[in-house]
Amino acid sequence: MNLKLVFPTEIYEDEWHSIVKEVEDAGEKMTPYSLKASANDYTEYLRITRDVSNGVNLNGMVQADTYFLVNGEDTRILGAINIRYSLTDYLLSYGGHVGYGIRPSERKKGYATRMLEMALDICRDRGMDRVLITCNKSNTGSVKTMTKNGAVLENEVQENDKTVQRYWIAL
Ligand SMILES: CC(C)(COP(=O)(O)OP(=O)(O)OC[C@H]1O[C@@H](n2cnc3c(N)ncnc32)[C@H](O)[C@@H]1OP(=O)(O)O)[C@@H](O)C(=O)NCCC(=O)NCCS
Repeated sequence: MNLKLVFPTEIYEDEWHSIVKEVEDAGEKMTPYSLKASANDYTEYLRITRDVSNGVNLNGMVQADTYFLVNGEDTRILGAINIRYSLTDYLLSYGGHVGYGIRPSERKKGYATRMLEMALDICRDRGMDRVLITCNKSNTGSVKTMTKNGAVLENEVQENDKTVQRYWIAL
């Protein structure tokens, strides 16, 4: 395997439709949100992700990058990760710096662990010294993905009926 993180570009259009459909067909919430954002088609999706990356037309969001996880030159999108470079009050309490997801058919193969590891390298390169990641207390797969990357639990907060755990990773 030659797993790598790539920016969304024109060549991933078919695979983007495929992963979005797979997540929707599984009845899951789009995670990260930026895997689809508010886009109705791929052209719009590319515009939104590029704008957010460039820090323009943010509509309340912070500057952030979305990467697809792929294997080598294969265009199949295995998962996606969103890195937010600053925290609003909401992100500090509930959202964190990083959100990620692996498509249902590709889970439990170590992809999320590797994807987060590569994203942490990007955060380090951007000068961040620690990263906040949050998740539902019941999300064992995500908790393990984080703790295998050095995450340390700070606390638990209540968001409506969910118990959200807040973890920090020192870079
Ligand atoms: C959480 C998620 C990203 C994990 O992705 P993944 O590629 O399956 O994770 P990995 O294969 O790297 O697994 C990491 C560890 O978690 C374990 N794990 C993964 N899914 C699990 C599950 N559903 N239940 C229990 N353990 C799980 C793996 O066995 C592995 O542990 P191990 O090394 O001790 O065997 C994936 O299930 C997902 O996309 N879920 C929906 C979106 C989501 O919840 N994102 C996180 C939001 S905070």
